Amino acid sequence: MAKVVGGIFTSHVPAIGGAIARKREGDPYWKPFFDGFVPVRRWLEAAKPDVAIVFSNDHGLNFFLDTMPTFAVGAASEYRNEDEGWGLPVYSAFSGDQALSWHVIEHLVRDEFDIATCQRMLVDHAVSIPFELCWPGGRPQGLRIVPIAINTVQHPLPSPKRCLALGRAVGAALRTWEGPEKIVVFGTGGLSHQLEGERAGFINRDYDRFCMDYLASDPDALTRHSALDIVELAGSQGVEILNWIAARGALGDCATELSRNYHIPISNTAAATMLLEAGDAVATARAVSLEAVV
Ligand code: DHB
Ligand code: FE
Repeated sequence: MAKVVGGIFTSHVPAIGGAIARKREGDPYWKPFFDGFVPVRRWLEAAKPDVAIVFSNDHGLNFFLDTMPTFAVGAASEYRNEDEGWGLPVYSAFSGDQALSWHVIEHLVRDEFDIATCQRMLVDHAVSIPFELCWPGGRPQGLRIVPIAINTVQHPLPSPKRCLALGRAVGAALRTWEGPEKIVVFGTGGLSHQLEGERAGFINRDYDRFCMDYLASDPDALTRHSALDIVELAGSQGVEILNWIAARGALGDCATELSRNYHIPISNTAAATMLLEAGDAVATARAVSLEAVV
């Protein structure tokens, strides 16, 4: 049976790609952010996931304001990367997992989620940057992805409650997949930021802290606010936290926080990285030690 092993939650600011391309990771501006990936990379080396389910938002590469699916699930054999104008390198194409995509899609539709299915899909910086951060030497051979795009751009936005439910349904689908895969989930974007208008540069440490504090232990707490509340609390792009909420849902009921990093600012963004392991680490350790006693 497939196993969801953990979740990686990270900002996806395009300038990170520029810093990597110019080898600036050690600069005082960048180091505090990149340091947050040391435990993530170590964990990935041990976890060796076969598949990544990536919850992110499209930034105008596939969907523009005239055609905007609320939830879109990739079902392609390959996802090419393109740069929407940030001057980023174009990264190598991502392999898809069509069989798993269709399994997830079947499950979601049966659960009454009216999703769009995309047999052709590009991926932008919201997918490529987190992977560059996780695997700086190149993605492991054979790693496949299932991208799931959530509309965090064009109003009306889906509610946090609905995004958590979507993630939970994806998680339930993954746990019934009969393959042997180890699966990691990604939630990308956030935390608080606003790129345009009078509030450009807006950051809210208190709200970010609230999200990080409850993400592992009580993700339903993040559904207390409406999507519009979140726009007010976190900025018009801070609402990318919806991707984190969905990814957290896919981890299942219990998740344990393994690492957290929060740094202000990276570009216009309060940049955050969290690593959660699926399951209750304390309970697992207790069960193992009880077994040893028996
Ligand atoms: C920035 C943040 C984003 O989430 C994004 O998609 C683009 C730019 C920024 O802070 O520069
Ligand atoms: Fe973004």
